[in-house]
Amino acid sequence: MNASLQQASLDPASAAHFVDQVMTARTAKRGFLDTPVSIELVRDILSVARYAPSSSNTQPWQCYVLVGEARERITSKAVDIFRAGPEKLQPEYPFFPQPLHEPFAARFNCFRGRLGDAVGVPRSDKYGRLKDVERQFRFFEAPVGLIFTMDRGLELASFICYGCFLQNIMLAAKARGLDTCAQQIWSLQHALLREELKFDDGQMVVAGMSLGYANNALAENNMCLEKLLVDEFTMFVEQ
Ligand SMILES: Cc1cc2nc3c(=O)[nH]c(=O)nc-3n(C[C@H](O)[C@H](O)[C@H](O)COP(=O)(O)O)c2cc1C
Repeated sequence: MNASLQQASLDPASAAHFVDQVMTARTAKRGFLDTPVSIELVRDILSVARYAPSSSNTQPWQCYVLVGEARERITSKAVDIFRAGPEKLQPEYPFFPQPLHEPFAARFNCFRGRLGDAVGVPRSDKYGRLKDVERQFRFFEAPVGLIFTMDRGLELASFICYGCFLQNIMLAAKARGLDTCAQQIWSLQHALLREELKFDDGQMVVAGMSLGYANNALAENNMCLEKLLVDEFTMFVEQ
Protein backbone atom coordinates (compact mmCIF):
# COMPACT_ATOMS: atom_id res chain seq x y z
CA MET A 1 0.00 0.00 0.00
CA ASN A 2 1.45 3.40 -0.88
CA ALA A 3 1.67 6.28 1.55
CA SER A 4 -0.87 8.48 -0.24
CA LEU A 5 -3.46 5.74 -0.03
CA GLN A 6 -2.69 5.23 3.64
CA GLN A 7 -3.09 8.94 4.34
CA ALA A 8 -6.23 9.35 2.20
CA SER A 9 -9.19 10.54 4.22
CA LEU A 10 -11.97 7.99 4.62
CA ASP A 11 -15.58 8.41 3.72
CA PRO A 12 -16.93 7.33 7.14
CA ALA A 13 -20.27 6.06 5.90
CA SER A 14 -18.90 3.70 3.28
CA ALA A 15 -15.91 2.73 5.43
CA ALA A 16 -18.21 1.75 8.30
CA HIS A 17 -20.41 -0.20 5.92
CA PHE A 18 -17.54 -2.28 4.55
CA VAL A 19 -15.62 -2.72 7.80
CA ASP A 20 -18.77 -3.76 9.68
CA GLN A 21 -19.65 -6.23 6.95
CA VAL A 22 -16.21 -7.79 7.05
CA MET A 23 -16.08 -7.94 10.87
CA THR A 24 -19.48 -9.57 11.19
CA ALA A 25 -18.95 -11.95 8.25
CA ARG A 26 -15.65 -13.32 9.57
CA THR A 27 -15.97 -16.59 11.40
CA ALA A 28 -13.44 -19.31 12.08
CA LYS A 29 -13.51 -21.93 9.29
CA ARG A 30 -12.38 -25.50 9.88
CA GLY A 31 -12.41 -26.99 6.39
CA PHE A 32 -11.01 -25.56 3.16
CA LEU A 33 -11.16 -26.16 -0.58
CA ASP A 34 -7.97 -27.08 -2.46
CA THR A 35 -8.32 -23.87 -4.52
CA PRO A 36 -4.79 -22.44 -4.62
CA VAL A 37 -3.88 -19.17 -2.92
CA SER A 38 -1.01 -17.29 -4.54
CA ILE A 39 1.97 -16.05 -2.57
CA GLU A 40 1.18 -12.59 -3.97
CA LEU A 41 -2.24 -12.69 -2.33
CA VAL A 42 -0.74 -13.73 1.01
CA ARG A 43 1.78 -10.93 0.69
CA ASP A 44 -1.02 -8.50 -0.11
CA ILE A 45 -2.89 -9.53 3.07
CA LEU A 46 0.22 -9.18 5.21
CA SER A 47 1.06 -5.85 3.61
CA VAL A 48 -2.14 -4.32 5.02
CA ALA A 49 -2.17 -6.34 8.26
CA ARG A 50 1.22 -4.85 9.16
CA TYR A 51 -0.54 -1.54 9.90
CA ALA A 52 -1.86 -3.12 13.12
CA PRO A 53 -1.36 -0.98 16.22
CA SER A 54 1.15 -2.11 18.82
CA SER A 55 2.32 -0.71 22.10
CA SER A 56 4.82 2.10 21.30
CA ASN A 57 4.95 0.64 17.75
CA THR A 58 7.04 -2.31 18.92
CA GLN A 59 5.47 -4.69 16.31
CA PRO A 60 6.23 -7.97 18.06
CA TRP A 61 5.15 -10.20 15.16
CA GLN A 62 7.22 -12.64 13.14
CA CYS A 63 5.39 -14.68 10.54
CA TYR A 64 6.20 -17.86 8.56
CA VAL A 65 4.11 -18.66 5.48
CA LEU A 66 3.97 -22.41 4.80
CA VAL A 67 2.93 -23.51 1.32
CA GLY A 68 3.65 -26.35 -1.10
CA GLU A 69 6.22 -28.96 -0.06
CA ALA A 70 7.11 -27.19 3.18
CA ARG A 71 3.48 -27.20 4.25
CA GLU A 72 3.13 -30.89 3.32
CA ARG A 73 6.27 -31.91 5.18
CA ILE A 74 5.58 -29.92 8.33
CA THR A 75 1.92 -30.92 8.60
CA SER A 76 2.78 -34.63 8.07
CA LYS A 77 5.41 -34.46 10.77
CA ALA A 78 3.06 -32.59 13.11
CA VAL A 79 0.38 -35.27 12.70
CA ASP A 80 2.95 -38.07 13.28
CA ILE A 81 4.24 -36.36 16.42
CA PHE A 82 0.71 -35.90 17.70
CA ARG A 83 -0.20 -39.55 17.00
CA ALA A 84 2.96 -40.78 18.74
CA GLY A 85 2.07 -39.09 22.03
CA PRO A 86 -0.54 -36.34 22.28
CA GLU A 87 0.08 -36.09 26.04
CA LYS A 88 3.75 -35.21 25.45
CA LEU A 89 2.89 -31.97 23.63
CA GLN A 90 2.92 -28.89 25.82
CA PRO A 91 2.14 -25.32 24.70
CA GLU A 92 4.67 -22.53 25.13
CA TYR A 93 2.24 -20.61 27.33
CA PRO A 94 -0.83 -21.67 29.34
CA PHE A 95 -4.04 -21.57 27.31
CA PHE A 96 -6.60 -21.69 30.13
CA PRO A 97 -6.50 -22.03 33.92
CA GLN A 98 -7.17 -25.58 35.11
CA PRO A 99 -9.97 -25.88 35.99
CA LEU A 100 -11.56 -23.18 33.87
CA HIS A 101 -14.05 -21.22 35.95
CA GLU A 102 -17.43 -19.66 35.18
CA PRO A 103 -18.73 -18.01 33.11
CA PHE A 104 -15.95 -19.05 30.74
CA ALA A 105 -16.34 -22.79 31.32
CA ALA A 106 -19.97 -22.68 30.19
CA ARG A 107 -19.06 -20.75 27.03
CA PHE A 108 -16.13 -23.12 26.37
CA ASN A 109 -18.33 -26.20 26.81
CA CYS A 110 -21.09 -24.72 24.70
CA PHE A 111 -18.63 -24.05 21.87
CA ARG A 112 -17.04 -27.51 22.12
CA GLY A 113 -20.51 -29.09 22.10
CA ARG A 114 -21.56 -27.13 19.02
CA LEU A 115 -18.36 -28.01 17.18
CA GLY A 116 -18.64 -31.68 18.18
CA ASP A 117 -22.22 -31.82 16.89
CA ALA A 118 -21.22 -30.12 13.65
CA VAL A 119 -18.36 -32.54 12.90
CA GLY A 120 -20.33 -35.52 14.26
CA VAL A 121 -17.87 -36.28 17.08
CA PRO A 122 -19.43 -36.31 20.56
CA ARG A 123 -17.18 -35.46 23.53
CA SER A 124 -17.33 -39.10 24.66
CA ASP A 125 -15.68 -40.27 21.41
CA LYS A 126 -12.00 -40.01 22.35
CA TYR A 127 -10.74 -41.53 19.08
CA GLY A 128 -12.91 -39.22 16.99
CA ARG A 129 -11.63 -36.24 18.95
CA LEU A 130 -8.00 -37.23 18.33
CA LYS A 131 -8.71 -37.51 14.59
CA ASP A 132 -10.26 -34.10 14.77
CA VAL A 133 -7.15 -32.59 16.34
CA GLU A 134 -5.13 -34.10 13.49
CA ARG A 135 -7.15 -31.92 11.13
CA GLN A 136 -5.92 -28.91 13.10
CA PHE A 137 -2.35 -29.98 12.36
CA ARG A 138 -3.16 -30.26 8.66
CA PHE A 139 -4.39 -26.65 8.73
CA PHE A 140 -7.86 -28.08 7.98
CA GLU A 141 -6.56 -28.75 4.43
CA ALA A 142 -6.07 -25.02 3.77
CA PRO A 143 -3.36 -24.48 1.13
CA VAL A 144 -1.62 -21.86 3.28
CA GLY A 145 -0.51 -22.32 6.86
CA LEU A 146 0.81 -19.39 8.86
CA ILE A 147 2.98 -19.72 11.95
CA PHE A 148 3.48 -16.76 14.29
CA THR A 149 6.32 -16.36 16.73
CA MET A 150 7.28 -13.68 19.22
CA ASP A 151 10.42 -12.80 21.15
CA ARG A 152 10.17 -14.71 24.43
CA GLY A 153 11.70 -11.81 26.33
CA LEU A 154 8.63 -9.63 25.77
CA GLU A 155 5.87 -9.34 28.36
CA LEU A 156 2.21 -10.30 28.42
CA ALA A 157 1.27 -6.87 27.03
CA SER A 158 2.74 -7.79 23.64
CA PHE A 159 0.11 -10.52 23.29
CA ILE A 160 -2.46 -7.71 23.05
CA CYS A 161 -0.54 -6.27 20.10
CA TYR A 162 -0.28 -9.73 18.55
CA GLY A 163 -4.06 -10.11 18.77
CA CYS A 164 -4.50 -6.87 16.81
CA PHE A 165 -2.16 -8.18 14.12
CA LEU A 166 -3.91 -11.55 13.87
CA GLN A 167 -7.30 -9.89 13.59
CA ASN A 168 -5.99 -7.60 10.86
CA ILE A 169 -4.89 -10.66 8.89
CA MET A 170 -8.25 -12.36 9.38
CA LEU A 171 -10.19 -9.27 8.27
CA ALA A 172 -7.92 -8.56 5.30
CA ALA A 173 -8.34 -12.19 4.23
CA LYS A 174 -12.12 -12.04 4.61
CA ALA A 175 -12.31 -8.82 2.60
CA ARG A 176 -10.54 -10.65 -0.23
CA GLY A 177 -12.91 -13.63 -0.19
CA LEU A 178 -10.64 -15.90 1.85
CA ASP A 179 -11.20 -17.38 5.29
CA THR A 180 -9.08 -18.24 8.28
CA CYS A 181 -8.88 -20.11 11.53
CA ALA A 182 -6.52 -18.77 14.19
CA GLN A 183 -4.93 -21.79 15.90
CA GLN A 184 -3.13 -21.48 19.18
CA ILE A 185 -2.93 -25.28 19.12
CA TRP A 186 0.15 -24.89 16.91
CA SER A 187 2.01 -23.71 19.99
CA LEU A 188 2.03 -27.39 21.03
CA GLN A 189 4.29 -28.10 18.06
CA HIS A 190 6.98 -25.59 19.01
CA ALA A 191 9.81 -28.17 18.98
CA LEU A 192 9.02 -29.30 15.43
CA LEU A 193 8.50 -25.73 14.22
CA ARG A 194 11.73 -24.56 15.81
CA GLU A 195 13.64 -27.31 14.04
CA GLU A 196 11.91 -26.91 10.67
CA LEU A 197 11.80 -23.13 10.53
CA LYS A 198 15.17 -22.66 12.20
CA PHE A 199 14.31 -20.11 14.84
CA ASP A 200 16.02 -20.25 18.18
CA ASP A 201 14.69 -20.70 21.68
CA GLY A 202 14.42 -16.93 22.06
CA GLN A 203 11.28 -17.07 19.86
CA MET A 204 8.07 -18.59 21.17
CA VAL A 205 5.29 -19.99 18.98
CA VAL A 206 2.24 -17.82 19.65
CA ALA A 207 -0.18 -19.44 17.18
CA GLY A 208 -0.77 -20.76 13.70
CA MET A 209 -3.48 -19.85 11.22
CA SER A 210 -5.19 -21.71 8.37
CA LEU A 211 -5.76 -19.53 5.32
CA GLY A 212 -7.66 -20.40 2.17
CA TYR A 213 -11.05 -20.61 0.52
CA ALA A 214 -13.51 -22.16 2.96
CA ASN A 215 -15.57 -25.22 2.14
CA ASN A 216 -18.90 -23.73 3.14
CA ALA A 217 -20.74 -27.01 2.56
CA LEU A 218 -19.35 -28.28 5.88
CA ALA A 219 -21.58 -28.01 8.96
CA GLU A 220 -18.63 -26.84 11.08
CA ASN A 221 -18.28 -23.84 8.81
CA ASN A 222 -21.89 -22.78 9.43
CA MET A 223 -22.16 -22.77 13.20
CA CYS A 224 -23.48 -19.22 13.89
CA LEU A 225 -22.09 -19.00 17.43
CA GLU A 226 -23.83 -16.75 19.93
CA LYS A 227 -21.99 -13.56 20.87
CA LEU A 228 -22.63 -11.55 24.01
CA LEU A 229 -24.80 -8.47 23.60
CA VAL A 230 -23.22 -5.08 24.26
CA ASP A 231 -25.12 -4.66 27.52
CA GLU A 232 -23.90 -8.05 28.72
CA PHE A 233 -20.26 -6.93 28.77
CA THR A 234 -20.45 -3.12 28.96
CA MET A 235 -21.13 -0.59 31.69
CA PHE A 236 -21.76 2.91 30.44
CA VAL A 237 -20.42 5.10 33.23
CA GLU A 238 -21.73 8.65 32.99
CA GLN A 239 -21.52 10.07 36.50
C1 LIG B 1 -6.06 -16.46 19.64
C2 LIG B 1 -7.00 -17.50 19.10
C3 LIG B 1 -6.63 -18.83 19.10
C4 LIG B 1 -7.47 -19.82 18.57
N1 LIG B 1 -7.05 -21.11 18.51
C5 LIG B 1 -7.82 -22.04 17.92
C6 LIG B 1 -7.33 -23.37 17.75
O1 LIG B 1 -6.25 -23.73 18.16
N2 LIG B 1 -8.13 -24.25 17.10
C7 LIG B 1 -9.35 -23.89 16.61
O2 LIG B 1 -10.02 -24.74 16.00
N3 LIG B 1 -9.83 -22.64 16.75
C8 LIG B 1 -9.09 -21.72 17.38
N4 LIG B 1 -9.53 -20.42 17.49
C9 LIG B 1 -10.84 -20.05 16.94
C10 LIG B 1 -11.88 -19.89 18.04
O3 LIG B 1 -12.30 -21.15 18.50
C11 LIG B 1 -13.04 -19.07 17.49
O4 LIG B 1 -12.58 -17.79 17.19
C12 LIG B 1 -14.18 -18.98 18.50
O5 LIG B 1 -14.76 -20.23 18.72
C13 LIG B 1 -15.24 -17.98 18.06
O6 LIG B 1 -15.73 -18.33 16.79
P1 LIG B 1 -15.70 -17.30 15.57
O7 LIG B 1 -14.25 -16.97 15.31
O8 LIG B 1 -16.29 -18.08 14.43
O9 LIG B 1 -16.46 -16.11 15.97
C14 LIG B 1 -8.72 -19.45 18.05
C15 LIG B 1 -9.09 -18.10 18.05
C16 LIG B 1 -8.26 -17.14 18.58
C17 LIG B 1 -8.66 -15.69 18.54
